Amino acid sequence: MSTETKELEVNTAAKLIPIYIMGKQYMVPDSLTIMKAIEYAGYKYIRGCGCRGGVCGACATVYRKPGEYKIRVGLACQTVVEPEMYLTQMPFYPANRATYDFAALEGKSEEVFALYPELFRCVACNACTKVCPMDVQVMDYIAAMKRGDIAEAARISFDCIQCGLCASRCMGELPQYHIGQLARRLKGAYLTPKAEHLKTMVANIEAGRFAKALEELKATDGEALRNLYTGREMEPATAGEDWAPKDSQFL
Ligand code: FES
Repeated sequence: MSTETKELEVNTAAKLIPIYIMGKQYMVPDSLTIMKAIEYAGYKYIRGCGCRGGVCGACATVYRKPGEYKIRVGLACQTVVEPEMYLTQMPFYPANRATYDFAALEGKSEEVFALYPELFRCVACNACTKVCPMDVQVMDYIAAMKRGDIAEAARISFDCIQCGLCASRCMGELPQYHIGQLARRLKGAYLTPKAEHLKTMVANIEAGRFAKALEELKATDGEALRNLYTGREMEPATAGEDWAPKDSQFL
């Protein structure tokens, strides 16, 4: 972050409260998220901010409140400020990330064990789960991975947004979020059954079934393309499994 001023729309009726950003006190409207309060205080985001919608994991924040021993965490873009909170953002936490040729993998648990041997340093303290701002059961997916259950590790870690806070609290120094990501990749590529209809469609495309239609589309001007698109037959919202378009020439 830098300290250039930034214009921000603020509810002028909001009450100002003190918060501490990296140890310095600022008075900010109590209705703001941490992210907006940081900008209100005069900082400009260069890193540590991405989607502003709670999905990219770039704005992990740790804070304490007076009189509490507890470390609290939140996403700066989702968490509303509270009086006297002492906070700092952790947009990145260094964690070992294995390098691998994904196409050369086969979706076996032994591959994960070889890439991330530190998996077995987990002592099941559950600090990772407690710190997760997405309420992912981190220790549980690590336990699943230790058992060799890639599919279960992928399922439990599905809501992970890769903020890295789990790794920041791990006494076994695991990079949990990278391990979960590898499990999801392996599940998607190797363990999920391939859709038969997709295989058929890919084979049709490769056999050139749509080549003529694509050439015609490429030769169509913008206005006609727009008309084709807006005039297309759309699947009704309530369509059942057996719905099919009247024009079946491309099925
Ligand atoms: S900016 Fe993406 S999660 Fe907060």
